[in-house]
Amino acid sequence: MSTPVELQGPVEFPEPDRWSWPAAAARAKSVVRLGAFVAMLAAKRHVRSRLHVRPLVAELFLTDNCNLKCVSCACWREQTRGELTTDEWRDVLDQLADLRFVKLNFTGGEALVRRDAGEVISYARSLGFQNLHLNTNGLQLNRRRLAEVLGAGVRSFNISVDGANASVHDAIRGRSGSFDAAIGAVRLLAEHRDRYGLNVRMNFTVLAGNVEEIPAVARLARDLEVTLSLNLGTDRTFLFRHEDVGQLLDVDGDALRASLRELERMVREDPRGLPSRATLRYIPSHFGLAADSFIPCAESQLKLMIRSTGEIGGCWGHDSTMNVRDHSIRSIVDSAEYRAEHERLFRKDCVRCGSNYALNVKVDRVTRVPYGR
Ligand SMILES: C[S@@+](CC[C@H](N)C(=O)[O-])C[C@H]1O[C@@H](n2cnc3c(N)ncnc32)[C@H](O)[C@@H]1O
Ligand code: SF4
Ligand code: SF4
Repeated sequence: MSTPVELQGPVEFPEPDRWSWPAAAARAKSVVRLGAFVAMLAAKRHVRSRLHVRPLVAELFLTDNCNLKCVSCACWREQTRGELTTDEWRDVLDQLADLRFVKLNFTGGEALVRRDAGEVISYARSLGFQNLHLNTNGLQLNRRRLAEVLGAGVRSFNISVDGANASVHDAIRGRSGSFDAAIGAVRLLAEHRDRYGLNVRMNFTVLAGNVEEIPAVARLARDLEVTLSLNLGTDRTFLFRHEDVGQLLDVDGDALRASLRELERMVREDPRGLPSRATLRYIPSHFGLAADSFIPCAESQLKLMIRSTGEIGGCWGHDSTMNVRDHSIRSIVDSAEYRAEHERLFRKDCVRCGSNYALNVKVDRVTRVPYGR
């Protein structure tokens, strides 16, 4: 549990970022590279299915271990040992800088249970990475830890909130007090948002036990003035594969549709900070409650997943056997095995998860030809 603020002593926050030419140029380059990425996906979709699109965003699982026991997650069910050391993560980051990745997402497990999380992130910043993001359950995000990660360069945060009140959230998260800690972290971030230009998002994972919470969670996000993202529960990918998780995904169709209707009404009134209507319409198909119309998986092309024990894959559904401890990242990404898998994932010849479906919906809209794939 996070230490109460009054017991932490004075905390020194870093100076906010000053505008600088190198940072602005790096940001402009990222935008250009993302534009080129989308153009390549359009070509891959319609012209050359074997086109090799290199990933631009790395998802770094600093640890698979955690300080919560969410019923929807498998990572805490056994202790993961032999994770990459600080030096091994530094080496990974050197390679990602060489490969000109534009964004790094630090995640887990719970990244903040690693004492060296700040040090690793800070090293990424020293290499020139401008877009650093952290996924966290918020439990340890007190003022001291926030000052540390802000100092390390993180400017974008996802805090998981699985219910609009403590009883629903804490039951899913397996620990009483976790709702108060998560909301405390969201408030703390909101307090510092303007000074540091933070992007703060509540990430709500849709499960059978919380579909009715969706409108209330949207109102909570509105009250806290943060963005809401709806993540979709799955038991098909690493970290979430467990027989107990499958039982949590039998979402009631009427309840889901009623919640989505209510959210769509809110979005029509004022879309700020809420998911787009197009993404809301996709959600029932993920749970098998509507026909699944094909959209390619841009997410699998954008991301490179680096597991805490060094395995590298293109997405949540890519169980790669290649490891950074044995091969360079460049050689893995350019290998025939990785390229074949990558091609398959783009076509969604995969286990089908809901990871970043909002991106897929957006990219589908700009890369689709009318009436075609
Ligand atoms: C694995 S956690 C890692 C970051 C951090 N520990 C947290 O909970 O925010 C990343 C996200 O996965 C979500 N998640 C948990 N169980 C899931 C499941 N079965 N399917 C899809 N996402 C899930 C969590 O709610 C969280 O938002
Ligand atoms: S979802 Fe996040 S907080 Fe919950 S057990 Fe998994 S890694 Fe931990
Ligand atoms: S939908 Fe398939 S290809 Fe896309 S991220 Fe999920 S498992 Fe990977």
